Amino acid sequence: MLETTLCGVTLKNPVIAASGTFGFGAEYSQLFDVGRLGGICTKGLTLHPREGNPGLRVWETPAGMMNSVGLQNPGIPVFLERELPRMRTLGTAIIANVGGGDLEEYIEGVRLLSNADGVDIVELNISCPNVHEGGMAFGINSEVAAGVVGAVRRVCSKPLMVKLSPNAEDITAMAIACEQAGADAVSLVNTFKALAIDIHARKAVFDNVTAGLSGPCIKPIALRMVWEVARAVHIPVVGIGGIATWQDALEFIMAGATAVQVGTATFVKPTTMLEIIDGLERYCANEHLTSLATVCNILGTVPKL
Ligand SMILES: Cc1cc2nc3c(=O)[nH]c(=O)nc-3n(C[C@H](O)[C@H](O)[C@H](O)COP(=O)(O)O)c2cc1C
Repeated sequence: MLETTLCGVTLKNPVIAASGTFGFGAEYSQLFDVGRLGGICTKGLTLHPREGNPGLRVWETPAGMMNSVGLQNPGIPVFLERELPRMRTLGTAIIANVGGGDLEEYIEGVRLLSNADGVDIVELNISCPNVHEGGMAFGINSEVAAGVVGAVRRVCSKPLMVKLSPNAEDITAMAIACEQAGADAVSLVNTFKALAIDIHARKAVFDNVTAGLSGPCIKPIALRMVWEVARAVHIPVVGIGGIATWQDALEFIMAGATAVQVGTATFVKPTTMLEIIDGLERYCANEHLTSLATVCNILGTVPKL
């Protein structure tokens, strides 16, 4: 009932673990059967290992959280050797999320990941607000983004999904530019650039001053962006931002998302994604739907390819 296709890849259901909130699946696989998920996006990977940012990395806000992890990861070669073989035993689609400090790092990273057996989709992260060089710098201006998408497209032998920043100058123009540069899908949104101040210490909470905001507080804005983008492009759109219940997921699907990703809600309750899958199944049964495609894009958006 919930089976869906994303860029030619069959997913058991449209519920995917969002990058950076599920590691490589190993820890959560001790808590529940992660093989029930539609897919897992890996922690953001870079060609070279990164230690991440100094100082505090997470901060709770009303109805959300801020993070400044800074793409801590073991580097792509180590991922391919140690983590990917283990991930392949989990029985779910593997989406490799890739970041980079400069264009060359993106190109080489995408080349290595897309050539690896077991990677189903490459998710290009041009939207990380927590690294100084690269990251979101590529995801603000449409022309800059199109340059990096076009360059990695040439070396990417797997479906290419581009993860968009809500901090882009114009999210719709950005999505169209990525589609024209060769993206097979877009996922949105990454975190919103935000600020928290420790009034007692009289300084910013984070060493980097700003950090990325996620969780239920961003959901209505993310939903609006997904709806706008889904009307503007002909490639699949994956909805992300504050999804915590099956009703939230259904809203994104109705706004035009082919699939959804769940991040912060998994920190609150590790089995959230299973509850979302169960809820969507019940909804389809109660509404006598054979597929969620029936309710996808009900706001009069353009048909998906
Ligand atoms: C702690 C943390 C780490 C994250 N790391 C990454 C990352 O490495 N790459 C990436 O593309 N997005 C990363 N994200 C963004 C999430 O994948 C997601 O886009 C964002 O949190 C919004 O979804 P949510 O409200 O469901 O959490 C991270 C988010 C959090 C909270």
